[in-house]
Amino acid sequence: MRFPDLETPCLLLEQSRLERNLSRMAEHARTCSVDLRPHWKTHKSPDLARRQCELGAVGGTVAKGSEADVFLRAGFEDLVIATPVVDPRRIAHLLTSRGGARLAVLVESEEGRARWSRAAATCDRPVEVLLEVDVGMGRTGVAPGAAALPLARAISESPGLELRGVLTHAGHGYSASSAEELETIGRAEGELLVDTARELRAAGLACPVVSVGSTPTVALSSKVPGVTEVRPGNYVFLDGIQVDLGVATPDDCALTVLATVLARPAPDRVVLDCGSKTLSSDAGRAGAAQTGLGRFQDRPELRIARLSEEHAIVPVPASAPYQVGDRVRVLPNHACATVNLHERLVIVDGSRVVQEWPIQARGCVT
Ligand SMILES: Cc1ncc(COP(=O)(O)O)c(C=O)c1O
Repeated sequence: MRFPDLETPCLLLEQSRLERNLSRMAEHARTCSVDLRPHWKTHKSPDLARRQCELGAVGGTVAKGSEADVFLRAGFEDLVIATPVVDPRRIAHLLTSRGGARLAVLVESEEGRARWSRAAATCDRPVEVLLEVDVGMGRTGVAPGAAALPLARAISESPGLELRGVLTHAGHGYSASSAEELETIGRAEGELLVDTARELRAAGLACPVVSVGSTPTVALSSKVPGVTEVRPGNYVFLDGIQVDLGVATPDDCALTVLATVLARPAPDRVVLDCGSKTLSSDAGRAGAAQTGLGRFQDRPELRIARLSEEHAIVPVPASAPYQVGDRVRVLPNHACATVNLHERLVIVDGSRVVQEWPIQARGCVT
């Protein structure tokens, strides 16, 4: 039995693959002369964040105010919250919890600007603000180029606020249907944001930071002259979605779910103990019917077809050897969503358990 001391389901993190992924990205950022500010919502682990900083990350990105709190409490001193925060209670709380740390926030609406300015006006030091720009994802952010000027100017003239730069995330790269399309999206991510920064500077506004980033686009966006910072997150683990996108190979993927065969009710069906409460129900890029809801690490053609909360149902050939009690490592479709459901990462070196890291920022939704 593999990892006999571990109760399943649990998350395994292959140390050598993690280290390789971390080093590759750190080296890439160094080569492109851009700051690496990884997104920590992927792993939610101060231990892993510390390792990224040892390898050269300038600080981190978080998605939510409550995630920021976890990393601030863990002693990190340079964070960006890359989702707009507009709740006045959360704003007031962050202005206190930041202490002496550097905590930049995202603004993409006039109301968001006004709320941050009202709260920050009486603080003893300004709040650093990044203006969010939408380069095609169609989520949040102002339009790129000169259209970004009015809000940028309003931020820079607001009491309590200091405009630090512009930020975008080309999440539409995940829908690219070819490597060429992905490259085009990555290049445009950098170029549209650099153009926007140029407009701001031409209007006399300061714009030192030009921040792009997603794992699928970072190879291209980071090379656009004028980009100063990249924020990939998923690269630490990689997952089924990145493999299907052509960004990673199965051998790059560092995170798996260790599961146990609960039942073999029919020769052509295996049932594992990793349901949607363990894996998440993320259906990947092309939907569950095409890519499955998770795949066996050592036999990626075997895919989970259905999930209930506690069960994963996997069609298998009758000749497949799986028996009740066997252990299987499952590659999740979306590592970030899977990690959010767990309390610990078990770091392994082959079949040896090395250590455990708590996932301290799991479930931080506010
Ligand atoms: C604003 C923002 N920046 C960076 C990232 C990191 O992207 P990825 O996980 O593809 O590396 C995300 C991911 O959702 C994001 O929303």
